[in-house]
Amino acid sequence: MQTATRVTHFGESVIREMTRLSIQHGAINLSQGYPDFDTPEALKQAAVEAIRAGENQYTITWGHPLLRQKLAELYTPRLGWQVDPDVHITVTCGVSEALAASMLAVLDPGDQIIIIEPAHESFHPCAHFAGAEPVAVSLQRPDYRLDPERLAAAANSRTRALVLNTPHNPTGRVFDAEELAGVIRTVVENDLVLITDEIYDRILYDGRQHVSPGSLEPLRERTITIGGLSKTFAITGWRLGYVIAPKTLAAAVRPVHDFLTICAATPLQAAAATALDFPESYYEQMRLDYHDRRKVMMEILDSVGFNAVQPEGAYYVLADYNGLDIPQADWHADRFGRWLTTDVGVAVVPASRLYSQPGYGEHSVRFAYPKRLETLREAGERLRQGLGA
Ligand SMILES: Cc1ncc(COP(=O)(O)O)c(C=O)c1O
Repeated sequence: MQTATRVTHFGESVIREMTRLSIQHGAINLSQGYPDFDTPEALKQAAVEAIRAGENQYTITWGHPLLRQKLAELYTPRLGWQVDPDVHITVTCGVSEALAASMLAVLDPGDQIIIIEPAHESFHPCAHFAGAEPVAVSLQRPDYRLDPERLAAAANSRTRALVLNTPHNPTGRVFDAEELAGVIRTVVENDLVLITDEIYDRILYDGRQHVSPGSLEPLRERTITIGGLSKTFAITGWRLGYVIAPKTLAAAVRPVHDFLTICAATPLQAAAATALDFPESYYEQMRLDYHDRRKVMMEILDSVGFNAVQPEGAYYVLADYNGLDIPQADWHADRFGRWLTTDVGVAVVPASRLYSQPGYGEHSVRFAYPKRLETLREAGERLRQGLGA
């Protein structure tokens, strides 16, 4: 049977593939970015109560009114403009759906969209869903900075949008004011829509503060701000995200979301409104916990002989292995990552698979560390043993 050309542009997700391999070989799964600790009890309770209270039918397609109200209260000061829950907010089935709905809403077949690489795996397929052509701008080791000149050079008369993920998966970068100035320049000069993915907005290190690019004056009218609850509340399986955008852009995204999924799960949306009421101490504790996890992860990588830059945000670290004193150090990332999973017992993602262009991420793998410290320590033991460190 003939299938659509668009599906030839992408295959199985490498992250899901590594997770399967991990399960098959009893590895510790540091490939997929989800916690091995549970969500707060209060949140589980809220979900159960919402089901008992009868919150079991479709919500209004734009999202549960209470959740949208809480999001409006959060985002009005953050974005610096009056966010109206009835106009500007759409609750989606995760950031994944938010990205797809946003790209389908702004891209026509033949348009180009700039994607900064290494990139979260779903960016490219979403562009292809819309019939658009992704154009890569690569971040490079050792510092993975976003070069304004390369960004500017990627835009042309066909470019319609740019997608920016900050804090960034997988490099751990939090793009600074200078890099954001480069984004503003390219977006404004080329009349682009900026789509942001801010799913790690609460996981920043060393006192860094998250800046929503859509709060910056030149970007306000042209930014689709995307956020999610998966990571902040350890509920990756609840599938909750949202799109916040000025009126015209929001109005384009809403019907796409409607016909893709109608709405996100009603009782979970109701419970998520509870999550947004958590006190500041919740976020403070989470930040402290992630500092501990980052410290343990970096110590492990260092003791084994990986070369890795400390993340500024999110919960991934790219680690170069070509300095290791083992024959496998010469292998390409795909082969090395599989071997680490099947033979050493620690599952990772080959960084090369997060770039679309050949020649990048060749001796680098991604470790995800949203895990209990004992899980990370056990992974450390396996790495030390398996790599002879
Ligand atoms: C940058 C980025 N965007 C989106 C997602 C998917 O988010 P969600 O669970 O909300 O669909 C992830 C998950 O790892 C991610 O790292």
